[in-house]
Amino acid sequence: MCEFIFNQFLKKDLDFDSELFDLLKANDIIKFHQSLDGYAPTALVSLNQMAEKYGVNEILVKDESKRFNVNAFKPLGASYAIYRLIKKEWEEKFDSQFKFEFLFDTVKMSKLGTFVFSAATDGNHGRAVAWMANRIGQEAKIFMPKDTKQARIDNIEKEGAEVVIINGTYDDCVREVSIRSKENAWYEVGDTAYKGYTEIPTWVAAGYSTIFNEIKEILDKGKFNIPDIVFLQAGVGAFAAAGTGFFRMNYKDKNIKLVCVEPIEAGGFFDSMKFGDGEAIEARGKMETIMAGLNCGIPSTIAWPVLKDSVNMFLTISDNYAEDAMREYKKAGIISGESGASGLAGLLSIMNNKKLIEAKKKLDITKNTNILLISTEGDTDPETYNKIVAK
Ligand SMILES: Cc1ncc(COP(=O)(O)O)c(C=O)c1O
Repeated sequence: MCEFIFNQFLKKDLDFDSELFDLLKANDIIKFHQSLDGYAPTALVSLNQMAEKYGVNEILVKDESKRFNVNAFKPLGASYAIYRLIKKEWEEKFDSQFKFEFLFDTVKMSKLGTFVFSAATDGNHGRAVAWMANRIGQEAKIFMPKDTKQARIDNIEKEGAEVVIINGTYDDCVREVSIRSKENAWYEVGDTAYKGYTEIPTWVAAGYSTIFNEIKEILDKGKFNIPDIVFLQAGVGAFAAAGTGFFRMNYKDKNIKLVCVEPIEAGGFFDSMKFGDGEAIEARGKMETIMAGLNCGIPSTIAWPVLKDSVNMFLTISDNYAEDAMREYKKAGIISGESGASGLAGLLSIMNNKKLIEAKKKLDITKNTNILLISTEGDTDPETYNKIVAK
């Protein structure tokens, strides 16, 4: 099953006057990531056989499975947000500039005391917060929904973090972590913005701009085509907001079509577009999907306005498309997990499902079309991954 809706609120000229856009414009975020040990740009690969199979000119994929050995793109957001949070503490306390390298200077860091970072997660964001906390010798408490796969819990505990299982959904974890962080004076590093909590999620989203800056650097060299269509998967929408914002700002005259992909059972942005009358609403689905990283019901308050202004089409897909996409990626030599493969799953649904012929036409997908996908994770749950790709 899949459904699509074109954006009735799409703006031709975006208002780039917001903190997120200010950060997306600056180049100090990629410089921060480059300063971290183990930084390397992830690969941007052209999938020729797949392009041929689907009758388009080019399919590019940015493979985030090797990002800092965390198997997903998420460390980019968590590391930048933690850096900004500590920088803010330092500069308020000492009235002097905090530099990137201070994070790893135990003498300097000890002047600030200790930090406990907390986050709600379906897996990848929490792992990234735990990873960054571990790198700078601080504690992390990660809240996860009850149905979380053991492999995802293990990956977080391996970083020395405490995992707290909540008897509810991801959105229940967001509520719980907010309450407990206030009670315990923990530093909440959330990727979901909500009323009264926007600064840190803005830093998280802005951190993802490094992916798009790396893509732009390669496109600028002319080796590949500038995409006509970009597929961006959404959970709370921070990743898609960074991507859509980046493309609208940097490729203003190119008329790139942006497609937001979500699971049909957790389509907060799709449902907001269809039923929300311009406002973000909670997803109407059952919140049951193998795309764990996208299983979020409530759109982030900083992501919705950006997506509402800039995404051309909102698309929801059922799990079988994600499974097909994982297998397609495997054939092309890319290991991509359930959420990681969802951008390609969106493309497959348009190419394979006759009910989406109208979407294909409106997006103007022809033999000349160039497509960009981001595989946002590797096999973050290896057991499930192996079962699916073996089918
Ligand atoms: C692999 C993967 N892809 C995409 C996303 C979506 O990111 P966001 O929640 O910012 O929309 C997530 C979120 O956890 C994820 O884990």
